[in-house]
Amino acid sequence: MLEAIKEIVISEEDIQQKIKELAAKINNDYSSEELIVICILKGSLFFTSDIIRLLTMPVVVDYMAISSYGNATKSSGVVRILKDIEEHIEGRHCLIIEDIVDTGLSAGYMKNILSLRNPKSLKICSLLDKKIMRINDIEVDYAGFVVPEKFLVGYGLDFRDKYRHIRDVVTLKEEVIGVSDKL
Ligand code: PRP
Repeated sequence: MLEAIKEIVISEEDIQQKIKELAAKINNDYSSEELIVICILKGSLFFTSDIIRLLTMPVVVDYMAISSYGNATKSSGVVRILKDIEEHIEGRHCLIIEDIVDTGLSAGYMKNILSLRNPKSLKICSLLDKKIMRINDIEVDYAGFVVPEKFLVGYGLDFRDKYRHIRDVVTLKEEVIGVSDKL
């Protein structure tokens, strides 16, 4: 285990079990209809990779990257598209895959701009749902775990772009967060 880790909040085993349950629901809901899965970079890389391989309908994977203008203005909801999807989604079922929905601003923004392209349906699947931090009315259609207001990394979640590769969802030691630039 990495020395920087304080505690495991959700184990790799529990994550994988939850992904099976989420995939079963999605398979049931969409049956054999084609689904465009939109992986939101970078955080949902591993979650997307794991869940799509359990889906049984025809799946098209696409990628989108957005960036808020730093924490100071995040509450303004200003978000910038760094990479747009390549698929034309009009009349097609789309599922946004997130690692975490926190304030809901990123998910809200993506839902707004993708809705304008007239998909047949547009839902959100997020492994983690930090509901307590929500500042809008965004609902996660397929939520894995509702998590408390703790700073979490691992399984795609980062701290200054590090720790994404940890297989569990974990917290970091306070001193690590304090001296992060030296790591
Ligand atoms: C994280 C996460 C969501 C967003 C959730 O991405 O992957 O996209 O923040 O926060 P919100 O609900 O408050 O908008 P981040 O901007 O950290 O980028 P990353 O996925 O590349 O790490």
